[in-house]
Amino acid sequence: MMKPPFVKSSWEKKDSKLELTLRPPTLSDFIGQPMVREKLDVFVGAAKNRKEPLGHALFCGPPGLGKTTLAYILSREMGTDLVITSGPTIEKPADLAGILTNLKEGDILFIDEIHRLNRTVEEYLYPAMEDFKLDLLLDSGPQARSVQVTLNRFTLVGATTRMGLLSAPLRSRFGFTCRLDYYPAEFVAEILARSSSILSVDINDESILEIAKRSRGTPRIANNLLKWVRDYAQMRADNKLDKITTRTALEMLDIDFRGLDEMDKRMLKHIIDHHEGGPVGIGTIAAALGEEPTTLEEVHEPFLIMQGFIKRTQRGREVTKLAYQHLGCPLMAPNQFSGETLDES
Ligand SMILES: Nc1ncnc2c1ncn2[C@@H]1O[C@H](COP(=O)(O)OP(=O)(O)OP(=O)(O)O)[C@@H](O)[C@H]1O
Ligand SMILES: [Mg+2]
Repeated sequence: MMKPPFVKSSWEKKDSKLELTLRPPTLSDFIGQPMVREKLDVFVGAAKNRKEPLGHALFCGPPGLGKTTLAYILSREMGTDLVITSGPTIEKPADLAGILTNLKEGDILFIDEIHRLNRTVEEYLYPAMEDFKLDLLLDSGPQARSVQVTLNRFTLVGATTRMGLLSAPLRSRFGFTCRLDYYPAEFVAEILARSSSILSVDINDESILEIAKRSRGTPRIANNLLKWVRDYAQMRADNKLDKITTRTALEMLDIDFRGLDEMDKRMLKHIIDHHEGGPVGIGTIAAALGEEPTTLEEVHEPFLIMQGFIKRTQRGREVTKLAYQHLGCPLMAPNQFSGETLDES
C-alpha cells in the first residue's frame, strides 16, 4: 500500500517526539519568565475555581521563547483539548467557521502567527470571540442569506512575533496579553540542565554556561546547540563534553561569545561599511544582504537591540559604539558617539 504523503518518516517522528518531550508540560516546569508564570497562574487558577472556560489570551515575543509551549500548557492545565492552526492557513471565513463550529466547551483554539490573519476572516472572529456567535453566509448572489450560529464557549490563544502588526480591534478583544522576553543566561542554563537530563547528555555546569551565553536568550536555540554539542562530542571527543569540546563545537557554528550569528554580524557590518553606521531603512539592508525584511525585523533586530548593538530611530536603523567595538571596526570619526553614554561591560 502506498503511504499518504503526510506520513512522517521514522526519524521525523522521533525528532518531533523529542521536541515534545523537551517542551515543559506544566506551568511549574516552565522555566524563567517569572511574571508571565505568575500572571498565568492567577488567570488559570481563577477560571478553574469558577469552573469557567479560560478567557482569550495573546502571547507575543520573538521566535523560540515559548509561545506555543504556553498554549500546550494552558490546555493541559485546563484539562481541555487544543486545536492548533495558524493565521495564513485560515484563508476564508468558511475555513474559520469549520474550525470554530467543531470546538467543544472550553477547548483552546491556538492561532499561531495571528497577525497574518486576513481582514475578512478577522472580522468574523470578533463576534465569535465576544459573544460566541458566528454569522454564516449561505449561498451567494441574490439568494444569499445569513444565519447566526451559536458556538460553544471556547478560548482563543493567539501567538505573534509582531504585536505591532496586529490590528487594534483584534488586540483589544484579548482579555489577557503577555509578552515573552529573551531569557537571562541563568534561566537558559536551567533550561539546558533540564534538557540534558531528558536527553541523557552528561554535561557539566561550565559547558552549560558556554552554551547558555551563545543561545541569544532563546530556549529553542539553546536546545539546538545542546544537541549539536552532544553530536560533536560523540563523533570527535569520545563523548567527553568538557568546556574545551563545547567551545570547539560552538565555534564551528559561527556563533560568537555574545550569541551573534553570521547574519547578525553581516547586518551590523553592512550598516557600518556601507551607511557609515546608519540610519538606514530595513528594506535597504535586507535587499543588500539577500534576506527577507521580516526575518531581519523579527529574528535579528530584536536581539541586536536588546544587546545594545542597534538603535531604531525615526530615520532607520543605527549601529551603536558597542557594535563598532564588538566587530573591531574603527569609528568614522573620533567624536562619532561623543553624546552617547553606553554600558560597555
Ligand atoms: N520556559 C521554557 N522552559 C523550558 N523549555 C522551553 C521554555 N520555553 C521554550 N522552551 C523550549 O523551546 C522550544 C521552543 O519553544 P516554542 O515552540 O514554544 O516557541 P515559540 O515562541 O512558539 O516560537 P515561534 O514563534 O517560532 O513559534 C520548545 O520546544 C521548548 O522545548
Ligand atoms: Mg510557536
